[in-house]
Amino acid sequence: MIEYDKDAIVPPYITEYLRAKTVHNDEFMHSLEKYAEENSVPIVEPETARFLSVMCRTVKPKKILEVGCAIGYSSILMAQATDDDCEIATLECNEDMVRIARENIKTSGYAGKISVIEADAKDYLSYIDDDEVFDMIFLDGPKAHYIYMLDECVRLLKKGGVLISDNVLYKGMTADDNHVVRRKITIVKRLRKYIDMLMEHKELETSLLPLGDGVTISVKK
Ligand SMILES: C[S@@+](CC[C@H](N)C(=O)[O-])C[C@H]1O[C@@H](n2cnc3c(N)ncnc32)[C@H](O)[C@@H]1O
Repeated sequence: MIEYDKDAIVPPYITEYLRAKTVHNDEFMHSLEKYAEENSVPIVEPETARFLSVMCRTVKPKKILEVGCAIGYSSILMAQATDDDCEIATLECNEDMVRIARENIKTSGYAGKISVIEADAKDYLSYIDDDEVFDMIFLDGPKAHYIYMLDECVRLLKKGGVLISDNVLYKGMTADDNHVVRRKITIVKRLRKYIDMLMEHKELETSLLPLGDGVTISVKK
């Protein structure tokens, strides 16, 4: 029996059903999921993983930017769901994660598609030239810094490009004061501001989904 987080935003019986229906048989990805669980590395939840994969097959991006690589799980997932000529750049500031991600990506056979860039995303995004436009950006790095990264993400996104941001409902804390854990208040305030920024952004149209830990999908108009 899988143990679900009691603070999850979706009722456990729904999550159980969704996960039972979105199983996969990829042994290598299973090994990464196991590693992540055993070593407390946060990776995308199974429902979010499937959503990301479907979005890749829908948008058919040629260039993807990811903020927050961790062990390379979601970047490998996106590599699996895109054409051979798609390039994925993934930013990660933790040296150990960068090393593990590079090993995993090499083993996955997608080293030719995925570049792991060791950098603090908040600084690095501003160094990317305007002509480096991306078809898709997956924001899954430091939640408290999404607000500082949004302008750069919009600048780097092609017209019609898609920005996907993970964990925006943050175990429900973003939506309701009664769920807020005191030590998380700064992150929660910043995520609330981030959602407002997305919703009010003139260049974006955004849908907020109660998927996994809360996901927004924004398209650049
Ligand atoms: C939720 S994990 C990413 C999970 C990954 N996208 C997946 O699903 O497989 C977030 C990662 O962002 C990294 N991170 C945190 N702050 C960062 C920053 N300022 N710049 C780059 N990476 C950062 C963390 O080290 C962590 O590995």
